[in-house]
Amino acid sequence: MCGIVGYIGPRPAAGLLIEGLKRLEYRGYDSSGIAVVNGDGLKIFKAAGKLTQLEQLLDGRLPHGTIGIGHTRWATHGAPNTPNAHPHTDQSGRIACIHNGIIENAGAIRTALKQRGHTFKSETDTEVLAHLVGEFYQGNLEEAVAMALGDVDGAYGLAFVCSDEPNVLVAARKGSPLLVGVGEGEWFVASDASPLLQYTRSVVYLDDGEMAVLTRDGYRIRNLQKARISKPVSQIEWDLATIERGGYDHFMLKEIFEQAESVENTLRGHLLEDEGTARVTGLNMTDDELKQVQRIVITACGTSWHSALIGEYMLEEMARIPVEVEYASEFRYRNPVVDERTLVIGISQSGETADTLAAIREAKHRGARTIGLVNVVGSTIAREVDGGIYLHAGPEVGVASTKAFTSQVAALALVTLRLARLRNLSILQGRQFIQALKLIPAQIQQILGRAHEVKAIADRFVHHNNALYLGRGVNFPVALEGALKLKEISYIHAEGYPAAEMKHGPIALIDENMPVVFIAPRDAVYQKILSNIEEVKARRGQVIALVNECDGQVDRLADVCFEIPETLDLLTPLLTVVPLQLFSYYVAVRRGCNVDQPRNLAKSVTVE
Ligand code: F6R
Repeated sequence: MCGIVGYIGPRPAAGLLIEGLKRLEYRGYDSSGIAVVNGDGLKIFKAAGKLTQLEQLLDGRLPHGTIGIGHTRWATHGAPNTPNAHPHTDQSGRIACIHNGIIENAGAIRTALKQRGHTFKSETDTEVLAHLVGEFYQGNLEEAVAMALGDVDGAYGLAFVCSDEPNVLVAARKGSPLLVGVGEGEWFVASDASPLLQYTRSVVYLDDGEMAVLTRDGYRIRNLQKARISKPVSQIEWDLATIERGGYDHFMLKEIFEQAESVENTLRGHLLEDEGTARVTGLNMTDDELKQVQRIVITACGTSWHSALIGEYMLEEMARIPVEVEYASEFRYRNPVVDERTLVIGISQSGETADTLAAIREAKHRGARTIGLVNVVGSTIAREVDGGIYLHAGPEVGVASTKAFTSQVAALALVTLRLARLRNLSILQGRQFIQALKLIPAQIQQILGRAHEVKAIADRFVHHNNALYLGRGVNFPVALEGALKLKEISYIHAEGYPAAEMKHGPIALIDENMPVVFIAPRDAVYQKILSNIEEVKARRGQVIALVNECDGQVDRLADVCFEIPETLDLLTPLLTVVPLQLFSYYVAVRRGCNVDQPRNLAKSVTVE
């Protein structure tokens, strides 16, 4: 959600904060602001809209000062306007605060503060917190923050500065990601490492209930009760080039085109060809423990939930273990049946999604063993699970998830292979699966090399306002994912269904204005899906078909065919999703949409 950056050191803070916010803008982009402390007190600038609005406001006249905080917002409390933009100040105007998360008892605190004479300029929960800190302030920002946090419920990543203390920056975390960047004589706080990579790769990840106090001499980590905490310094492995666009028009396109490499990176080091199995030591489970798993629950949100559904097909088919896939937001609140014989797999690109994190905590609390398939190294989910696999897809900046999805499916294939080989899958079958997996990156590359064909299809369908996506079996989740991609970046209404379900309702929508995307590789249900295509054509729907080969059957029916290379049935989603991602991208670009930062969305959803 919101992006947070803070700095203390010898450099001018304002420019550094703006640059940092540019890297964080993917987390939220409806308003932004900075606060810098200098000899003249606290200087605050904020603006509604994209970061460029703030830059226009500053017009190159950056406030001087070497300590400050900056924020880019994704609105939770209050409209995305300038008064609601962060930083917010306390009643006296001395303390500035930026916040990612939600203070749940803000309403009650606001009422109490009003009764004590406080007046508010915004509708935000963050301003309420700033006022509360101000009430506790008696010349020591660190203590005032600790005391105020004792009174609040909810989730937060926070940073504070105070005009009376130009040498202290205080940060705190509960439920929203925050890290400290450790430079040479300079220190940073940020909601992820991207704004500080240019200066340092050494970071300390804060855990819930921890505060960081940054001064001109160093940093300390403590809890709300004053106990000092010693924490390891981790090194970030990727560099700035990895999070830049590298010649592509958009991050989304770059990330779609990275998939041959990112899938290869996910698989690297995990495939044991001779033994026909996968090495997944990161799960931290012995073979005996893996054999004892009786049931698997996979929990996730959004695109990651779609990859979870593919995992369900793979695991049930190959490992013969019953699997349930749960929306994390439902799982966490519905008294789920899990125990120590249940393996709970959480899937998350960011590793920070609030609902997925809460679902994993709930599962752990009930005694389940938890594993995470996570992309962002050092993220909260990655640190809280009992074991897992890092996706190594590289940073995903475009708000619409693309390469994380294919890497999640690849990681699920690894877990499936390991579990299946410990049960009934033969070494020969295991080897065949590995052979097919190893071909996938080159096959993705082959599809990407034909992106212009997808662009031509997109050009043809760009003016439609609705679309149906239909697939069967393991490609039903791909239909869901294709529809999600289209709606989130082009704002075209799109629905995904199992192809045969069409007859039970959605068929009523079909006429000559309805494009229907069929995902129809030559798999076990190919003949069935041909009948579904006939049904759509009989109602004059326009069919776009993803097929292995234009074999005379499909191309006779479909308005457009796109061929994808052949692979094992269970691995087809790794290929079929790629043209669908490209299709959404090209449609959205033609419609003039901001594909990397679609309206109302944010990259990492750290609120419920
Ligand atoms: C869609 C998209 C979202 C995320 C969802 C979960 O393109 O990006 O649906 O998949 O918010 O996010 P993670 O995977 O970070 O937990």
